[in-house]
Amino acid sequence: MTLPPLPGPLPAFPPGFLWGVSASAFQTEGAATRDGRGPSGWDEFAAQPGRIKDGSDGSLGTGFYDRYREDVALLAGLGAGAFRFSVSWPRVVPDGSGAVNPAGLDFYDRLVDELCAHGIAPVPTLYHWDTPLPLERAGGWLNRDTAHRFADYASTVAERLADRVPMWITINEPAEVTLLGYALGEHAPGRKLLFDALPAAHHQLLAHGLAVRALRAATAAEIGIAVSHSPVRTAGDTEEDRFGAELYDSVYNWLFADPLLTGAYPDENFAALMPGPVAEDLKVISSPLDWYGVNYYNPTLVGAPAPEALDSFAGFDMPGELPFGIRQIEGYEMTDFGWPVVPEGLRDMLVGLKDRFGDRLPPIRITENGCGYDGIEDTRRIAFIDGHLRALHAAMADGIDVRAYFIWSLTDNLEWIEGYGQRFGLVHVDHPTMRRTPKDSYRWYRDVIRAQHGLSRPTAG
Ligand code: BGC
Repeated sequence: MTLPPLPGPLPAFPPGFLWGVSASAFQTEGAATRDGRGPSGWDEFAAQPGRIKDGSDGSLGTGFYDRYREDVALLAGLGAGAFRFSVSWPRVVPDGSGAVNPAGLDFYDRLVDELCAHGIAPVPTLYHWDTPLPLERAGGWLNRDTAHRFADYASTVAERLADRVPMWITINEPAEVTLLGYALGEHAPGRKLLFDALPAAHHQLLAHGLAVRALRAATAAEIGIAVSHSPVRTAGDTEEDRFGAELYDSVYNWLFADPLLTGAYPDENFAALMPGPVAEDLKVISSPLDWYGVNYYNPTLVGAPAPEALDSFAGFDMPGELPFGIRQIEGYEMTDFGWPVVPEGLRDMLVGLKDRFGDRLPPIRITENGCGYDGIEDTRRIAFIDGHLRALHAAMADGIDVRAYFIWSLTDNLEWIEGYGQRFGLVHVDHPTMRRTPKDSYRWYRDVIRAQHGLSRPTAG
């Protein structure tokens, strides 16, 4: 396929802008039963026949647990300023509470040292979906106690790593965990509770707030969270269409952002459905953040439930009884995953966040953006990232304070229920042998980083 040439060099980003790459533990580490790691809800889920499309599970990942030095060398070759990885809770606290596994902490200690030795900032995410199995069996995020156990685990990790980690992320994408894991049942733990899943949202938010306090007590540096956002476009112009789009927007974009940044749920009706002393919890949940992480992939077209609504959206079954209907966005190139490529959606979303939160919006870091495409000559990934960086630059020119951009992901990894079928990496992984081969996008991103450093360096004279 021939693509139009890129529109020329990227504009200059501000000096100090951080160029990063993201990954997560379950998708890469493998070594699921080694050195004392306990099972997670995802291990149990993946073992159920039919859950993961190609029948794979988390036992291999990309072999990162053994090959992390090779991957850090790849990051160094890229000139990456930061690497966002996740700490596996069941590797550090195998039962989710109680005894800490020293070998688990040692692994992240070695990884952090290796990154620092190469001048790459380690950016750990404390929770990227791998709940320790005993906690999942006790209700997972439906159980308030999980939030307290998470805060204990956050302290444990921070006490070990805070001296070298410049930036922390508590939780990755609480919306996906709530919607895909507890409402629709497509991800672990496979619960299909629809709106009865809302307590899972509240308890993740509470876990985040308690962890912020625990991290601060352990003198952790800059604390943030990675929240997924998707600008919602309304399909149709009936009242039902507007209601459907607004409801989806609230559930996806504001159910987490509003409590974090304003201390209130987007609607009293949501607050009324949450468990526990909600008003008191909201004070914890809105503990001040140093920065706000945005994961962006694409916008969503939503209207009333209708026959033409997708029964499968982004690979996930959408039950008919939902009060909104998600439609296919037309007129854009699609990734191999079937997601529309809409770079301006990133700018729209950032402007939307600024409009909603004003001065309450802390500095932003784009903690994920990327695309699933096959092939080592991945010109389409280059065009995708180039387009999104231009949109990001435009948002920054509009006055939005964005300080970093992390590509999802370094290597092709275990893409949750897609197994190894979707390739998001800058580096190709041959999964049987785990051999790494940098793609064209790796070389392109390396050149972007080099050029940007050159642009931001003051010229002599
Ligand atoms: C998740 C990643 C995932 C990516 C692509 C995000 O929702 O944080 O773990 O691989 O999207 O689907």
